[in-house]
Amino acid sequence: MSNRILITGANSGIGKESARQFGLKPEVKKIFLGVRSIHKGNAAKKELEEATGRKIFEVIIIDVSDATSSKKMVSKLTDPIDVLVMNAGGIGGKNPRKLNASGTMDITSVNLLGHAALVEELIEKNMLTDTVIYAGSETARGVSKFGVQRPSFKDNTVQEYKKIMNGEFFNKNENSMNIYAYIKYLAALWMSSLAREYPSIRFITVSPGSTSGTNGANDAPFPIRFLMTSAITSKFLLPMMKVVHGVDKGAARYLEVIYDKKNYKSGHFYASKEKDVIGPLIDQKIISPSFGNKTYQDNAYAAITHFIR
Ligand SMILES: NC(=O)c1ccc[n+]([C@@H]2O[C@H](COP(=O)([O-])OP(=O)(O)OC[C@H]3O[C@@H](n4cnc5c(N)ncnc54)[C@H](OP(=O)(O)O)[C@@H]3O)[C@@H](O)[C@H]2O)c1
Repeated sequence: MSNRILITGANSGIGKESARQFGLKPEVKKIFLGVRSIHKGNAAKKELEEATGRKIFEVIIIDVSDATSSKKMVSKLTDPIDVLVMNAGGIGGKNPRKLNASGTMDITSVNLLGHAALVEELIEKNMLTDTVIYAGSETARGVSKFGVQRPSFKDNTVQEYKKIMNGEFFNKNENSMNIYAYIKYLAALWMSSLAREYPSIRFITVSPGSTSGTNGANDAPFPIRFLMTSAITSKFLLPMMKVVHGVDKGAARYLEVIYDKKNYKSGHFYASKEKDVIGPLIDQKIISPSFGNKTYQDNAYAAITHFIR
């Protein structure tokens, strides 16, 4: 069932495009655009109404870097959500390692913390019925062609994961794309732990793939920022090299895993094949078996929960 959908970060990029694609499905009756800016939300709503010819979009305010904001958003809902798309996220602004009130870095809270609080609150209030997806990333298993190393750990304990979240794990000069990879890695583990804890709901991590036409790379380090934002490289060179696709294809991956219940299973992480960043989706356990380790999954859950309580 997918009558009522909530998408975080729905005012731009892959989130907005997925709202458009959901809006074209007649069975979808309501789409909440979860945004932190009312102005950007209203502009996206207008654009989406024009693109789909339907008045099913509602702006709802949520700052996914703030657990309190997530809880406040849930208190505004009157009926359950069938599909939750946890799409908001990215590098975490100009200073991603800045510590915030939660005790984690901004890059952690924007990708992980508010979403964790959101899921917890929705489940506690019985407001979630069908599927939850999280916007993962190929970086979580390393992307050598972009110079992003595969995350590697000493012991995969709760303590180690907490140090990743608060930044103590990283040396002073660590590249923010590498830190992003670790955070997306923890997110995929956390989603798999949730899948075992709540078997009546599907929890799937899916990467939209390397996607141009979004604001996602604006704060990324050079050369990724240059490659993804320059018109020549993002529109011509990278597509020709088959290392980037458009927002339509990125968003379509979300809908693919949500609607194809036979092939995409709860608790799994789907993204591109090992040497690719676009193209068909495969289970990432094939590339990195650690995504299937239940102890690691539960340790990620424990570390994340520590910072939202
Ligand atoms: N593009 C790629 O190549 C790629 C690849 C793999 C994974 N992803 C993931 O896909 C997701 C979407 O990225 P995108 O490329 O579409 O980037 P984008 O255009 O920058 O979209 C990100 C969205 O998240 C919102 N957002 C950021 N921080 C927020 C906060 N604290 N509270 C509420 N909303 C917030 C942004 O809102 P504002 O406009 O207010 O900033 C924006 O709507 C991200 O999770 C990203 O990590 C992207």
